[in-house]
Amino acid sequence: MARLVVVSNRVAAPDEHGKQAPGGLAVAVAAAMHEREGIWFGWSGNVSDEPPEPTTTEIDHVRYVLTDLRSSEFDEYYNGFANRVLWPILHYRVDLAEFTAGHYEGYLRVNQFFAERLGPLLRPDDIVWVHDYHLMPMARALRRLGHRNRLGFFLHIPMPPPDILTALPKHEVTIGALVDFDLIGFQTESDAANFARYLTTVAGAASRDRREYQIGTHTFRIGVFPVGVDPQQLRRLASRASQSAFIRELRESLSDRRLIIGVDRLDYSKGILQRIDAYEWFLRTAEPWRDRVTFLQIAPKSRSEIPEYAEMDAEVGGRVGRINGEYGHVAWVPLRYVNRNYRRGAVAAMLRLADVGLVTPLRDGMNLVAKEFIAAQDPDDPGVLVLSQFAGAASELNAALLVNPHDREGMAAAIRNALEMPREERIARHRDMYATLVANDIRYWAKSFIDALTNPGRPSRRWLAPQPIV
Ligand code: G6P
Repeated sequence: MARLVVVSNRVAAPDEHGKQAPGGLAVAVAAAMHEREGIWFGWSGNVSDEPPEPTTTEIDHVRYVLTDLRSSEFDEYYNGFANRVLWPILHYRVDLAEFTAGHYEGYLRVNQFFAERLGPLLRPDDIVWVHDYHLMPMARALRRLGHRNRLGFFLHIPMPPPDILTALPKHEVTIGALVDFDLIGFQTESDAANFARYLTTVAGAASRDRREYQIGTHTFRIGVFPVGVDPQQLRRLASRASQSAFIRELRESLSDRRLIIGVDRLDYSKGILQRIDAYEWFLRTAEPWRDRVTFLQIAPKSRSEIPEYAEMDAEVGGRVGRINGEYGHVAWVPLRYVNRNYRRGAVAAMLRLADVGLVTPLRDGMNLVAKEFIAAQDPDDPGVLVLSQFAGAASELNAALLVNPHDREGMAAAIRNALEMPREERIARHRDMYATLVANDIRYWAKSFIDALTNPGRPSRRWLAPQPIV
C-alpha cells in the first residue's frame, strides 16, 4: 500500500516520552497511518539562524520529520503573510489585511524551502496530503522540483467568494496555485462553491463534469469533507474528568448558578467581543436571570505579536471589566475571563458541566469546539449549544440554536431560550447532533479524503454538486 505523507505547519508530534499528542488531526493521522506507513512533515516550532537538517522521530508507523525555520522567514511567512493577509481575507476581513511584498515573498520562500526539504524523502508512489492556508503553494513548489505524486490539499478555514479573494494581491500565485493539487478539499458546500466560482470566473478553469476541472492538460477535483471529532473518546474523557478535584472546585465556586461557557483562541474571527455584548444585553434585559448565571470565557492568547490580536486583547479586557463592574457584586462575578490553556480532559469536563455553550464566531471553517461541546455532554441531561450560522459546524449541527453573531438581541434571546429549554427538548436536540458526530467522525473524515485522493475514479457522496456560473 502506498505511503501517506502529511504536511502541515504545526505537527502534533509525540512528547519526549513518545506519548501521542492529543487532538483531532493527530488522532486522524495516527489512525490513517496505522494502515499504511507514513511521514508527518512540518515546522518544528523553533526558529534558528541556520536551520539544521530536519529531525526525525519514529513512533507506531509514523515518521515525524520536523524542520526549524529562519527567524526572519518565519516572521514573514507566519506572522506576516499567513496570519496578517491570508487569515483575515479568508475569514472575510479584507479590512484587517496588511499586505507587503516582503511578507508575500517570505511566504513563497518558506513553501519552497519546505518542498526542498520534503522532496528527498518522497517515493514516487507516496500520496501527499497538505493542510491549510500556510501551504497553499506547496503543490506548485513540489511539481517544479519534478515530483509527480498524487497531491491533496485540505483547507481548514473558510474559502470566501471570488470578489473577496481577488482583493488579495497576487492571488493567482497563492489561491490560484491550489489548482496544481489533484484534490482540494473544503469544510462546507459553500466554501467549495466559492472556490468553484473562482476557478471558472477568475482562474480560467473549464468545468469537465460535476466535480472535475481542467486547466490546460491538468485535471483536478474539489470536494467537501467536513472535519469531525472522536465523540466516544471525548464523552469518556469528559465523564472521567468530571470527577476531578478541579471540576469539583469549579462547581462549588458557582454556588448553584447556571454555567454558560465559551472556549476559543483569542482571535477576532471568534466573535468574542460580540458575544460579550450579547451577554451584557442578556443581563440587562433578562432581569430574573441576574445573579443566577455565570459566563466563563476561556480564551488562550494567540498570535500575540500581530497588532490586530494585541488590540483585540485590550478591547476584550476592557469590556469584561465594564460588565463585572456594572452587574457584579462582591459574591458574584458575572463574566469570568481566563487566558489560560487547559488540558483536553479539563476542557471536556468544563464543557460537560456547562448548561449553555456559546460558539458564535463571525466566520469559522468548522469550529471543533461546537462538536466537542456536543460530544462532552451527559446525554441524559445535556447542555444547549448556541451556534453561529457562520461556523462551518452549523451545516451539520442544525439542531443547535443557530444565531447571527451580529444580532445582539437575537443572541441574548437565544441564551435565554437555552437556559429555559425543557429537558426533553434538550435531550432530543442533543441525540440528533451526537448521531451526526458519530456518523462523520474524525477517522471517517481522514479516510474519505484519502480514499478520494487515491481512487480518483470512484464517485463519492462528498463530491460537490456543480454550482451555476453567474
Ligand atoms: C486554525 C488553523 C490551524 C492553526 C490553528 C492554531 O485552526 O486552521 O492551521 O494551527 O488555528 O493557530 P496557530 O497560529 O497557533 O497555529
